[in-house]
Amino acid sequence: MHEPVLVNEVIQLLGVKEKGIYLDGTVGLGGHTKAILKIAPSIRVIGIDRDKKALEEVKKKFKEELNKRLYLYKGNFKDIMTMKKKFPVQKFQGALLDLGFSSFQLADSERGFSFQQEGPLDMRMDSSQKEKAFDIVNTLSEEKLADIFFQFGEERLSRQIAKAICQRRKKDPIQTTLQLSNLICEISPRWGQSIHPATRVFQALRIAVNEELEGLDQALKDIFQCLKEGGRLGVISFHSLEDRIVKQTFYSFENPCTCPSDFPKCVCGKKPVGKRITQKPAVPSDEEIRKNPRSRSAKLRVIERVK
Ligand SMILES: C[S@@+](CC[C@H](N)C(=O)[O-])C[C@H]1O[C@@H](n2cnc3c(N)ncnc32)[C@H](O)[C@@H]1O
Repeated sequence: MHEPVLVNEVIQLLGVKEKGIYLDGTVGLGGHTKAILKIAPSIRVIGIDRDKKALEEVKKKFKEELNKRLYLYKGNFKDIMTMKKKFPVQKFQGALLDLGFSSFQLADSERGFSFQQEGPLDMRMDSSQKEKAFDIVNTLSEEKLADIFFQFGEERLSRQIAKAICQRRKKDPIQTTLQLSNLICEISPRWGQSIHPATRVFQALRIAVNEELEGLDQALKDIFQCLKEGGRLGVISFHSLEDRIVKQTFYSFENPCTCPSDFPKCVCGKKPVGKRITQKPAVPSDEEIRKNPRSRSAKLRVIERVK
């Protein structure tokens, strides 16, 4: 059901090798994991996901490989430093993060990710987490809501939408995805050929509920630390906010010097720890976008650990 994106590019740019042990920090339904395992029978993968349901699906799919070639852990890849104590190995030949949510999560209306299907305002990837989209929509101040829509959704109508939500919820809480999506449609100009008016607000709420951007830079640093020398980290992002963090963090691995630019030579002594394999991100071909439209905004950046 979930079509993995940029699979060939991931395999090629990560330089997947025989006998390697790889970390898939967002195992989802295991599409990339499957492609990595297929390269050679000696390869092993440690898979993490914060979504219990996704892990249950992967366990069913990979019965034969489970606990022999594939080891699964429920958790947040941002906690890699504590999680890895439970892993059978501590260092990886490569690591992959395929950020965001999956079609599996989107398709389940009960999880509330879709603005096109009726469901509760939930949006949690980890259903043991307390805060749902409902809590954000119905309790935050108008100003805070507008900030979320603007910062995480780059929504031009952030203030108007926040105002409309606060007025509507005075009568009754906004309970469902379609109640919210219809409210946004009411105050948005006709959208014709462009994206659905609720797209950006739903993206913003999902990012806020799951704290997707918070600590992402530190997580990249931690995962990078877990690579062997010559090991590679690949990250697939789906919007500019994530991609900016990935790009800047990778740049800092290659250019760690903090000396002022007018210093004739470096005195901070910080040496590069990474070499970017992709100067520009790899993006899906027209063919892939045609087959899997969800891939259209994907960007893959890869960096190699040099010491
Ligand atoms: C785009 S999907 C990955 C799909 C996967 N590569 C595949 O081929 O099936 C993203 C997955 O990452 C998980 N996820 C997102 N953020 C996470 C985090 N911080 N820690 C662990 N898992 C996360 C989501 O629950 C979702 O299952």
